[in-house]
Amino acid sequence: MKRRIWSGLLALIVAGTFASPSLATEPIKTSSAEPWWKHAVIYEIYPRSFADSNNDGMGDIKGITSKLDYLKGLGVDALWLTPCYPSPQVDFGYDISDYCAIAPEYGTMADFDELVAEAKKRNIRIIMDLVMNHTSDKHPWFIESSSSKDNPKRDWYIWRDGGGETTPPNNWTSVFGHSTWKFDAKTNQYYYHLFYPEQPDLNYRNPEVRKAMYDVAKFWLDRGVAGFRLDAIMALFEEIDLPDNPVVPGKNKFGDPNTEWIHNDRLPEVHDVLKELRKVVDSYPDDRVIIGETGGRDINDVSATYGKNLDEIQLPMNFFFAYINKLSPSEFRTRIGEWDKNPAGGWPVYLFSNHDQIRHYVRYGDKVHNDDIAKLTATMLLTLRGTPLLYYGEELGMENNDPKTKEDVQDPIGKIGWPEEIGRDGERTPMQWNTSDNAGFTKAEKAWLPSPDSYKKYNVASEEADKNSILNFYKELIRLRRTEDPLINGDYKAVDEQNKDVLSYVRRGEKKSILVALNMSPESKTVVYDLKPFGINSNSAKTLLASPKGNNNASLSHLTLPPFGVYIGQVQ
Ligand code: GLC
Repeated sequence: MKRRIWSGLLALIVAGTFASPSLATEPIKTSSAEPWWKHAVIYEIYPRSFADSNNDGMGDIKGITSKLDYLKGLGVDALWLTPCYPSPQVDFGYDISDYCAIAPEYGTMADFDELVAEAKKRNIRIIMDLVMNHTSDKHPWFIESSSSKDNPKRDWYIWRDGGGETTPPNNWTSVFGHSTWKFDAKTNQYYYHLFYPEQPDLNYRNPEVRKAMYDVAKFWLDRGVAGFRLDAIMALFEEIDLPDNPVVPGKNKFGDPNTEWIHNDRLPEVHDVLKELRKVVDSYPDDRVIIGETGGRDINDVSATYGKNLDEIQLPMNFFFAYINKLSPSEFRTRIGEWDKNPAGGWPVYLFSNHDQIRHYVRYGDKVHNDDIAKLTATMLLTLRGTPLLYYGEELGMENNDPKTKEDVQDPIGKIGWPEEIGRDGERTPMQWNTSDNAGFTKAEKAWLPSPDSYKKYNVASEEADKNSILNFYKELIRLRRTEDPLINGDYKAVDEQNKDVLSYVRRGEKKSILVALNMSPESKTVVYDLKPFGINSNSAKTLLASPKGNNNASLSHLTLPPFGVYIGQVQ
């Protein structure tokens, strides 16, 4: 069974190739009047899988509210909720049938308001997922649009003639396999869907569509949300005359010929919409923020989504970093270096895991040192200059629990693509709260997805009680991020750049600096540092955190790191 390479989908050009809990929640200290999100830890929650308050086997809003103290203790500043709007759930919420309500299976608007208010009491903000590219085919807009060719909403979606029922308008293929065009017998035309046929694409050349979506944004901003994560945002536009995409060798996981997505991805018009949306968001107080699911051919493409005047997305996701997928210091150095100095001068964002991609505990783990490696990747995420995005459960060392048979699969892409594409259920399993049945996620007999056996060891209750747990290491890292000035305001400099095994960098602050060393090899390594060229003259470092635990001080001319060891020390 092969595992997919998801790559944030639109990063794909060739389709288918691919501590102290109280401290942790104090308002973040910054040296200037910088927006909160620059120094925040943002935590992604998949609501269906986080906590089940009514024991129906699915997570819900009240479940999330009941866990806010845990999140506060961890030290997160904002929660990004993947979609929890009414939806037929074909794509588990990414097919929205009402943008201005809460899915009944997840609760009510009153539950949502309570979540926002309770989170606010704990200095935690709520960020919504805004799925602008497409709606559900059950959304009233699409129902109207498909009712007749002259319906006023016809032009809200992309309708085109084909060559009869079997010949679509062009060769474009869907992210989820096969043609992007679905024939509608009633009106004898095709509609365009980049994802499932149940997710028709909206037409952003129509100003009414733009206005309707900005009104959706205002609806949630008025309710007090701190911003949005924009789903599949680079796919908003398609070329009007629909030229075929170039065919390139090979087939994708669904058996379709590979094509280069050049006529329906990253069209320049996307930037106009981003600027307009940003104006809406900026018209609200308190530094609301836009996170983007952004991709492209290279870092310049991702960087372009900040906007030339930093007037588009504040926090674009950089999947080139997220999916390096091997512990290679040189690769990390390159990716971090280019992102830290991105051409737009935008604030970097770092992540490793999300709901579309195999958990990084599995991707980077070697099955022997997985826990040490989890601490190493956590250190990188939480000490780089930029905003980290965490995915629920990564702080525990949650692993994937992939479906074993096609019958077990819930995610339709796993059904369409089995066995080449097994879907994304594996990384969406319930949050692991304790050692009881279903990892304490639900009291129902069965959770919507089964937990991996490893939950008995990797769960909140057990790890809170173990001072060496991954969870306590994350807490300690987040505490350091909030209290150590160089980790807040310092610049980033790669050091010892020729080292093939150890990734080292300094965060240089005004008075002191912090050295981070990450041994990416299964052997013990000793590093000799010369930090004088970086204005750091001390010969030793004061240890702030090390894994495995180390001495209070370390010599910079002889710093020994155990296999996959981590060292964070203060230098001057
Ligand atoms: C984004 C989401 C993914 C979803 C797709 C279609 O990539 O992250 O989960 O299936 O968009 O909305």
